[in-house]
Amino acid sequence: MIDTNVMDIDKFNLWYGEKQALIEVSMNVRKNKVTALIGPSGCGKSTLIRCMNRMNDLVDGCRVEGRMSFNGQDIYDKSTDVMLLRKKIGMIFQKPNPFPMSVRDNITYGPKIHGVTKPDELDEIVERSLRQAALWDEVHDRLEHSALSLSGGQQQRLCIARTLSINPEVILMDEPTSALDPIATSKIEDLAGELQKDYTVVIVTHNMQQAARISDYTGFMYIGRMIEFDRTDKVFSKPSDELTERYITGRFG
Ligand SMILES: Nc1ncnc2c1ncn2[C@@H]1O[C@H](COP(=O)(O)OP(=O)(O)OP(=O)(O)O)[C@@H](O)[C@H]1O
Ligand SMILES: [Mg+2]
Repeated sequence: MIDTNVMDIDKFNLWYGEKQALIEVSMNVRKNKVTALIGPSGCGKSTLIRCMNRMNDLVDGCRVEGRMSFNGQDIYDKSTDVMLLRKKIGMIFQKPNPFPMSVRDNITYGPKIHGVTKPDELDEIVERSLRQAALWDEVHDRLEHSALSLSGGQQQRLCIARTLSINPEVILMDEPTSALDPIATSKIEDLAGELQKDYTVVIVTHNMQQAARISDYTGFMYIGRMIEFDRTDKVFSKPSDELTERYITGRFG
């Protein structure tokens, strides 16, 4: 079966003021797969993933060129509804950032904004989202507690549940486990694998084992360029580029 693309990125460039941070980047994001982005600090991983739901719009002096499309629609076209885009393409950050409100309210916040009002329906969304984020069993009896009373790993899964509550198609994760301990990390890693049944995941990681273990496709970036993009098994066993090989074998710099 040929994998279908949800996102196509073709010769994409980005500048922060004078400084070019992405150079002729091309890659695709395959539907219901996990795509990992790896590469040394400052190579542009966060910049690239943040372009995918236009988070860089908020950065002064940021300019883009080239094409990035989502289900065939140009993400950077003037007619793109950015609110809707971010509903379809959700984002999880490095540090868990739950809202300072109850566990339940964290989940119902988005659906309410998007017009869901029926209590039954909201209850269903809360349970479904928490189950999908593998958090239900741990928090079902403290839905009214403050989200800030959860552990870091639980908070991160709550943020994932919050994203799932509005039915995204793609979930972007920028180093979602870097602030977490090994047990919490492996729970999120297992979750990324589970989520791909229903969603498409793009994950930035500094952890090569994590990339190799959980992703289907891997992109290796270096100083703003996509050096290699291929199936993960290929990138890790038979990289085409010498830079990739040096990076994945730890012989870098
Ligand atoms: N808001 C910004 N304004 C100006 N330059 C920026 C901005 N954000 C990032 N940069 C620069 O763009 C380049 C790419 O940064 P980016 O954060 O995308 O790297 P990264 O691969 O995510 O690094 P890390 O692994 O350390 O998170 C870096 O040189 C960085 O200094
Ligand atoms: Mg980064």
